[in-house]
Amino acid sequence: MPFYHTLGHIAPKRHTQFEKPPGPNGTGGLYYEQLFGTIGFEGMSSLLYHIHRPTMVKAVLESVETAPRVAVEKNMLSRKLIGFELPPSPSDFLESRVPLLVNRDVTLGLAAPTGSMTNYFYKNADADELLFIHRGSGRLRTLLGTIPFEYGDYLIIPRGMIYQIEFDPITQPRLLYLESHSPIYTPKRYRNQFGQLLEHSPFCERDIKRPQHLETHDETGDFLIKIKKQSALHSLVYATHPFDVVGWDGYNFPYGFSIFNFEPITGRVHQPPPVHQTFQTDAFVVCSFCPRLYDYHPKAIPAPYNHSNIDSDEVIYYVDGDFMSRNDIAPGHITLHPGGIPHGPHPGAMERSIGKKETQEYAVMVDTFRPLMLTEDALTLDDGAYYQSWME
Ligand SMILES: [Fe+2]
Repeated sequence: MPFYHTLGHIAPKRHTQFEKPPGPNGTGGLYYEQLFGTIGFEGMSSLLYHIHRPTMVKAVLESVETAPRVAVEKNMLSRKLIGFELPPSPSDFLESRVPLLVNRDVTLGLAAPTGSMTNYFYKNADADELLFIHRGSGRLRTLLGTIPFEYGDYLIIPRGMIYQIEFDPITQPRLLYLESHSPIYTPKRYRNQFGQLLEHSPFCERDIKRPQHLETHDETGDFLIKIKKQSALHSLVYATHPFDVVGWDGYNFPYGFSIFNFEPITGRVHQPPPVHQTFQTDAFVVCSFCPRLYDYHPKAIPAPYNHSNIDSDEVIYYVDGDFMSRNDIAPGHITLHPGGIPHGPHPGAMERSIGKKETQEYAVMVDTFRPLMLTEDALTLDDGAYYQSWME
């Protein structure tokens, strides 16, 4: 996140001796400093202070291939995937992830876990992750602190963060997730030259849930970290607890943002999708469709016009409420409108929208600049008929 945050205790000056409190035998020694950044030494970074060296690999165990199995490489059909038909998985968040739509920049999938990650930690060394919490609540525990989450939260986890996800036991989690090979940022046009979100941005720093409650474990033993790199999941055993940070500061940290805090931009006539933009990368954008008043020109048509997103594939994940431009859409559905052919409101939707004053819809849209491929799992959720649903 392009602002400064700090938790715990840090040295008064960077790269200088930072002494541990004296133990029973006199000196406590020095804390171990780690610079943790992305994009070499050019991107956002944080400076961490560990009790133990963060480099103590004890053993390297098995590696498991996790590359998605692609079923349709060149897709030209509009698709509707019935997301909630994905059965709950008797496993945790990592094990339950099912990739559905992929290209070389991004993987988009669903997860319906029933358990929490307990006996290991996870790090994605390939990609920034975006999680959208559709059902359930819990805590994202990271080496930089904990972020409680609930329905409607986006969680942005920069690559390399070591984390665990705990769900509250009575909730039945449903998540949309993205793995992005380029960093996930807030839209540049909403930031000034110093990185501050501008007045016309639909959200501001106050809406960002930053990590709190830094956990510091001074423990030695066997600590398993599953590290995703080059699509393989490598299992490394470390000699110390990965959450042994006593303090950190900087700009590189995970954060949350609730879709309920997105303030929609409206107009006299229909506003295009960029007004809903919430995140950007080099390869796709993420937009939040939220309850809002409709256009107020006396002859306005609130439903969108047909449009040819010739240069991008458009994915919409339907969260809640009525989605005004589509027929037969329910929470958990995913539509894919491939680039190359136009799409638009379903028959009757344009007429139905005229005179309406507001919408209660919630949806997350992902527009990728390169075409998406469908996995074998995606085909099991595909209704198979959506591409003809604009016929009279
Ligand atoms: Fe569209």
